[in-house]
Amino acid sequence: MSIEVKNLTKTFDDRKVIDDISFKVNDGEILAIVGFSGSGKSTVLKLICGLIPYDNGEIITSEGDIAMVFQYSALFDSLDVADNISFALHERKDLRKKFTEDEIRKIVSEKLEMVGLKGIESKFPSELSGGMQKRVSFARAIVTNPNTILYDEPTAGLDPMSSTLIEDYIVSLKHEINAASIVVTHQMSTITRTADRVIMLYDGKIVFEGTPEELLRQETPYTKQFVTASLEGPMQMHGG
Ligand SMILES: Nc1ncnc2c1ncn2[C@@H]1O[C@H](COP(=O)(O)OP(=O)(O)OP(=O)(O)O)[C@@H](O)[C@H]1O
Ligand SMILES: [Mg+2]
Repeated sequence: MSIEVKNLTKTFDDRKVIDDISFKVNDGEILAIVGFSGSGKSTVLKLICGLIPYDNGEIITSEGDIAMVFQYSALFDSLDVADNISFALHERKDLRKKFTEDEIRKIVSEKLEMVGLKGIESKFPSELSGGMQKRVSFARAIVTNPNTILYDEPTAGLDPMSSTLIEDYIVSLKHEINAASIVVTHQMSTITRTADRVIMLYDGKIVFEGTPEELLRQETPYTKQFVTASLEGPMQMHGG
């Protein structure tokens, strides 16, 4: 099992943003985390990849690398695509001497091919469309062959076809590297095309756990409100 979260709690300024949640993601499984703005989705990802510390509980991940694909591609503007993708291989102490430059070139071109962008090694981020930048940021995230991949709103702001492309990559990565993945998303297509299971957060707690089909059946007040995007229901927007 690749990610196990047990009784996780995180408080910001006296407010429990994550309140005693537990869930598991197996190898080769994609878990979608959904929920309204401010429900704690990004916080969960940041806790899992160690960007921020948690107060209580436990996070167990299997050996290997964790990759995070950020909402905004966060590529280095001054580096070309090849240098962006190979960044970790050049800069990380444990990886720096592991590959020759020829091997790195080969790895970069393989990863680019995997995201459908063969041959764009020497382009700069500013020369690419938003969707292409996102796919390059995927390639950069998977360059270390992570067995755990966290995606924060990977399809937000993309046109429907680019969204489908990204969704297909997420699923193909699950097959190709048997990764355990978590996809934070608001987008229904991303949930139905990628997720094996879904959890919904509200006020730092899990208020629904099930398959995408179960989510769409709207059998609980929470799933009904989420799927119909209704203002009426058990979930209230805070701070808006
Ligand atoms: N570093 C921080 N310091 C203080 N409060 C924070 C911090 N990070 C997040 N929060 C608060 O925690 C809550 C959850 O934030 P989070 O970013 O996890 O929400 P989210 O579910 O990802 O929302 P969105 O859908 O808008 O991205 C929010 O109320 C936010 O203000
Ligand atoms: Mg967020």
